[in-house]
Amino acid sequence: MTSGATSRKSKVSIIGAGSVGTAVAYACLIRGSAGALALYDTNAGKVRAEVLDLNHGTQFAPACRIDGSDDLAVTADSDLIVVTAGVKQRPGQSRLDLAAANVELAQALTPALLDLSPGAVVVFVSNPVDIVTYAAARAAGEDAAPRIFGSGTVLDSGRLRFLVAERVGVAVENVHALVVGEHGDSEIALWSSTTIGGVPALAYDLGDGPVFDDAVRAELASEVMRSAYEIISGKGATNLAIGLSTARIVEAVLRDQHRVLPVSSLQTGANGIEGVCLSLPTIVDGRGATRVLEVPLSADEEQGLHASARALLDVQRALGL
Ligand code: 2OP
Repeated sequence: MTSGATSRKSKVSIIGAGSVGTAVAYACLIRGSAGALALYDTNAGKVRAEVLDLNHGTQFAPACRIDGSDDLAVTADSDLIVVTAGVKQRPGQSRLDLAAANVELAQALTPALLDLSPGAVVVFVSNPVDIVTYAAARAAGEDAAPRIFGSGTVLDSGRLRFLVAERVGVAVENVHALVVGEHGDSEIALWSSTTIGGVPALAYDLGDGPVFDDAVRAELASEVMRSAYEIISGKGATNLAIGLSTARIVEAVLRDQHRVLPVSSLQTGANGIEGVCLSLPTIVDGRGATRVLEVPLSADEEQGLHASARALLDVQRALGL
């Protein structure tokens, strides 16, 4: 616990003050996710400017102490650490293309961060998040799970929920949909368990047959998978939605919410997957990603999930992980 913290856990450190790290900080500030934020970046001028800019807004947001530095010591005694640092996707580049550089960074950072915050939960956002999370969990050693996990497909699931809600004119809060597997090109939309106000999406009919037929399901799943590429080509990076979805994960941990979220964690057998980090519906609470739920899958979904796991295993082997 940080000194002077409220009764609930409250210090969140964010590693990397780039567009994603500052979006996570801003989302946590306006949502009141944490009682204290600490930003770390190797660029002293940048991190100082971002902290100044955030602090100037604190009057308009729930109480939060914000600090920052190019000295990692600023993260000491964190309850939760969000790692966004690393090379970013360039237009047309896949997330897996960033693997070698960001894995090396995660392997170096993780022990140093845990030395300064021995009890912290660490959430990786840097891409390719599944590979980076796997490397970090291995670097942290046996006691890593459930404290080390990745943001996974929480954002992708949000994208699918948005597209489904838009298609049928229903509030997004009434759509439950999961994207699982790699946070990337091999991810899988679980249409068999998608519901709209409790009505299975596969049976949702507005009067002239099922809305989500094969063509629409393929179109929406592809739109989710291509979202990041489209946004990156338009504005250089995605940051706002990943900031909000990460703040949701932060709250599930700091408030011990036992929320089911498709985060990326080291799989130990659910749905027949092990030895990789990928996303399946998982209970997220004060200890981290504590329990993966075995989600019912159609034959196609099962095939897609295992193909996704194989794609990640291939990258792990290529990197010697
Ligand atoms: C996203 O999906 C780039 O992984 C990031 O927005």
